[in-house]
Amino acid sequence: MYPLRRNRRLRQSQAIRHLVRETIITPSDFLVPLFVVEGKGVKEAIPSMPNYYRYSLDVLAKEVKELWHMGLCGVLVFVKVPEALKDNAGTEALNPKGLMQRAVKTIKDACPDMLVMTDVALDPYSSYGHDGIVEDQKILNDETVEVLAEMALSHAEAGADFVAPSDMMDGRILSIREALEEAGYTDTGIMSYSAKYASAFYGPFRDALDSAPGFGDKTSYQMDPANRFEAVEEAQADVDEGADIIMVKPGICYLDIVREIKNEIDVPIAVYQVSGEYAMVKAAAEKGWLDHDAVMMEQLLAIKRAGANIIASYFAKDVVKLMG
Ligand code: PBG
Repeated sequence: MYPLRRNRRLRQSQAIRHLVRETIITPSDFLVPLFVVEGKGVKEAIPSMPNYYRYSLDVLAKEVKELWHMGLCGVLVFVKVPEALKDNAGTEALNPKGLMQRAVKTIKDACPDMLVMTDVALDPYSSYGHDGIVEDQKILNDETVEVLAEMALSHAEAGADFVAPSDMMDGRILSIREALEEAGYTDTGIMSYSAKYASAFYGPFRDALDSAPGFGDKTSYQMDPANRFEAVEEAQADVDEGADIIMVKPGICYLDIVREIKNEIDVPIAVYQVSGEYAMVKAAAEKGWLDHDAVMMEQLLAIKRAGANIIASYFAKDVVKLMG
């Protein structure tokens, strides 16, 4: 009680503030999302994601070496699939020589110890831009899950350390875990996008991969931003089905969900600070309306303080550079 207790004593110098600081961001907190395209020598700007690029495989090899030297030891790989290879069933996703499968090999060849996680979802491969097989404007669940299990297996065969299903079909974690176990990939992990909301913050990502839904939206499979309790259920179900890591996505608007899950479930939690969150900070900073680095660090601290053990973020390199 005041005056015996004065909280400002612990804030009066940088030294004491640092001594009592509870949350510290380090390079090993991050997963770096990577966008991969066909071609040679390609480093393609993404207009709605300033200072972020799509890489062809040769440039990707250099990029992952650079990440590794910066202390960034995990990547989350996404591919931009040529339009001509897209169909309703996502057939190209299973091609052992597909872009994702080659990207995994490229990264492992360039940087064998880099932790490689692959996105498992049909949308970049789907002629409808949906995360599942479409029939009569509906997204089929069980048929999609079968393809996702095969897709995950194909990524494991290519050398992925973890597969990261981002589709939100019911039951996919169990099917993927069983497919991996049966094929002997007992060490291949699963990071499940468990509480993935139907968010408007994914816009720039869909520009990056040209994967926007061709009709309707994703509200019949991604979660309603208005809901809380089903997030815990989704996460628990995924853990029961065999997920090693669960994810909440997007970040900043959903930190109550992160904390709720953290309080209930004892597995590592990843938070995906998504493309729209990145774009907002970049845009405001470009206009001189916000201090880029300060806002970036404040948001990342908030994500970690809420309970994230892992942060997938387009800011990863910016942060490491800032830390010097
Ligand atoms: C799709 C997927 C999306 C993101 C990751 N995986 C977009 C979507 O669901 O439409 C978004 C990531 C971001 O916005 O940064 N399976």
